Amino acid sequence: MQGLTATLIRGLWYVAVPGDAVKPGAMLPKTLLGEPVLIGRGNDGRVFALRNLCPHRGIPLHYGTFDGEAVACSYHGWKFGRDGGCVEIPSLREDQPVDLPKIRCGAYPCVERQGLIWIYFAKDGEAPSGSEAEPPRLPVFGHDVAPALKIVLPFPCSTDHAAFGLMDPTHAAFVHTSWWFKKDPTKLRPKEKAFEPSELGWRMVRHALPPQNIAYKVLGQNVSTEISYRLPGLRIEEIRGDRHAVVGLTAITPVDAENTEVHQFFWVSTGWAKPLRPLLEHLMTVFLDQDRVVVVRQREGLEAKPKLMLINDADTQARWWMRVKDEWLEAQAEGRPFANPLKPMVLRWRS
Ligand code: FES
Ligand SMILES: [Fe+2]
Repeated sequence: MQGLTATLIRGLWYVAVPGDAVKPGAMLPKTLLGEPVLIGRGNDGRVFALRNLCPHRGIPLHYGTFDGEAVACSYHGWKFGRDGGCVEIPSLREDQPVDLPKIRCGAYPCVERQGLIWIYFAKDGEAPSGSEAEPPRLPVFGHDVAPALKIVLPFPCSTDHAAFGLMDPTHAAFVHTSWWFKKDPTKLRPKEKAFEPSELGWRMVRHALPPQNIAYKVLGQNVSTEISYRLPGLRIEEIRGDRHAVVGLTAITPVDAENTEVHQFFWVSTGWAKPLRPLLEHLMTVFLDQDRVVVVRQREGLEAKPKLMLINDADTQARWWMRVKDEWLEAQAEGRPFANPLKPMVLRWRS
């Protein structure tokens, strides 16, 4: 069972940061999947990601400068273009030819879609291809529509425990205890939801949401939702009414094997979210922080390496997460396409 660390999975696109975290001409160092990454945006607005280490003496490149075209190392001024190739070594004399493009700091495939910067972490340096040729496309909203709401919190836990928390249907009454959300843990109700396999994971089949809930009334009549979970740790919820739609994305991005960043985004088709943004982002942060506090406390226990358990049906999705992840790793090791191991199923619990 899962302890403090998780196996990190590769050959997939990860959410690195929201697009507006990196302005034109700026660079931002991050540790992602245990690797030093330097994200930047050129003067032309295009984003890129380099391995944040100078191949000369290993100093992180972010200590240097970026002129919107190339990153200059702070130690001897070697310059690297946005494809990771060296473009200049100031110390060279005219009679000292060096094949500059052969000197590389390394670059990651990096694209901006729907207001997010995605980075592809290859397994063996391969280019993104097949189902992962592009980052996952979120439904409803266009290529260039940025989320209206966004927050991120550091979770001091592995991606496995972050994922378990994300797909856990029975913790809310005990963990999310703010007055504006609170459910009475003494009044849990039976729930039954249909699930089916979907791309790189599974989804809770579309179902109607309670029409009496005021938050859903904004979307019009006949409000329904579909929630999908997929590698490498994305929860995508699409809530639709006859007037408006909301798409939520929670993205789990590993900092390293035992630390995770949890991003939460919402795209909305109405203008009402804009003036309410500070309030809504505050509420999102309070809510997500309740999940974060759980993993901080859980960590205390995991240090003692306890034996853990998964229980039906409440933990079936946690089990699916491990199965889908294991299948991804096996398919990669055997050099064959991913074959979804899940079957349609109805899960029942009380929450
Ligand atoms: S260490 Fe980067 S240029 Fe020398
Ligand atoms: Fe939660």
